[in-house]
Amino acid sequence: MGETIIALADLRYAAPVPQVPDRLTEPTGTLLDRRGRPLRDLRISVTDRCNFRCSYCMPKEVFDRDYRFLPHSSLLSFEEITRLAQVFVSHGVTKLRLTGGEPLLRKGLEQLVGMLAGLRTADGKPLDLTLTTNGSLLARKAQSLRDAGLSRLTVSLDAIDDTVFRRMNDVDFPVADVLAGIDAARQAGFGPIKVNMVVKRGTNDHEIVAMARHFRGTDVVLRFIEYMDVGATNGWCMDEVLPSASVLALLRGQWPLLPLEPSTTGETAERWRYADGAGEIGLISSVTQAFCRDCNRARLSTEGKLFTCLFATRGHDLRALLRSGRSDAEIAGALSLVWADRGDRYSEMRALQGESPAGRQHRVEMHYIGG
Ligand code: GTP
Ligand code: 5AD
Ligand code: SF4
Ligand code: SF4
Repeated sequence: MGETIIALADLRYAAPVPQVPDRLTEPTGTLLDRRGRPLRDLRISVTDRCNFRCSYCMPKEVFDRDYRFLPHSSLLSFEEITRLAQVFVSHGVTKLRLTGGEPLLRKGLEQLVGMLAGLRTADGKPLDLTLTTNGSLLARKAQSLRDAGLSRLTVSLDAIDDTVFRRMNDVDFPVADVLAGIDAARQAGFGPIKVNMVVKRGTNDHEIVAMARHFRGTDVVLRFIEYMDVGATNGWCMDEVLPSASVLALLRGQWPLLPLEPSTTGETAERWRYADGAGEIGLISSVTQAFCRDCNRARLSTEGKLFTCLFATRGHDLRALLRSGRSDAEIAGALSLVWADRGDRYSEMRALQGESPAGRQHRVEMHYIGG
């Protein structure tokens, strides 16, 4: 276990500072990577802490009382996050997602939401500003987030049965409180809300139909996520992945479903609707049907490192640029070089070649770079 912790610390503290080009050019609103993919979606992790200990993300044995989370001075300030977000927007980002850890644990988050809600694209449009939460603090915070200008919400929920849910979050948190959070969010004017369920075979696959039944006929869009080999600490193995095709077969055994067209390119979920009009569901098949081909997502870690893939083993230290007094134009120039050099397509490669256990121990954790 000592080794794992050293590997994590390396990832957090040793990211190269990106190069600033000698000649700076105005951002055009479209950056393309080596595979012709634009940059459209920025996910920002605002804290590496979480009050849950889901075993697939922050297992208790690693993230215990001795685990050293980032000190406050390492975190990007709200001003720094907003400044970077503006630079990303100048390069074509139209969607911002706040994540963590659990983003609602970051003090004063509403203030950041307000600052980001004030950003505009080059043609004057507001951004799609959204947040992923475990829902535990949502009943308290939904209204203030809405008032601050948050446009959408996604809640993670892995089971509807209280016993199963308490076991999966591993801190004995009751499902009723998350459901109350979802209700509060609905009342605050968020909708349709997405609910993300990570499916682990043998752990919560028996909850698939019950979850679907619970959210059918509401405006919640329930999405089933294949358990991924992200990070180095969750002990992932293929046997625990339930392919989306099996999820779909289970659901179709209960209700007729019809496919929906993608709403945008590069979408994570394949969308389906109940034939009887009871709403929509999604299948996120990152393991059995990788969606790297159109991946337009970048991730900014809690301490300001840019990751161009969820499975990256190395970040690019944007905070160093910020704190060494570089201008927005210089940071924009550095970002364009990083993105132009991006060739990541990890999930596709894993599907082709299988997992590489050697690379795994250096992989960054999801709660640090954001889901
Ligand atoms: P919407 O805009 O609301 O549809 O969100 P989204 O689906 O783009 O983002 P969300 O964070 O809800 O993603 C859901 C899940 O998909 C995540 O929790 C991950 O499990 C998985 N996921 C998201 N982005 C990626 C990605 O870039 N690569 C892989 N492999 N999985 C991803
Ligand atoms: N596989 C799939 N999704 C994961 N998440 C975290 N770890 C994993 C994993 N191993 C996603 C879940 C969760 C969000 C915070 O991150 O969607 O809801
Ligand atoms: Fe926390 Fe979400 Fe990770 Fe669970 S999956 S430990 S709720 S960040
Ligand atoms: Fe994008 Fe990497 Fe995920 Fe592929 S594995 S979809 S490149 S983040």
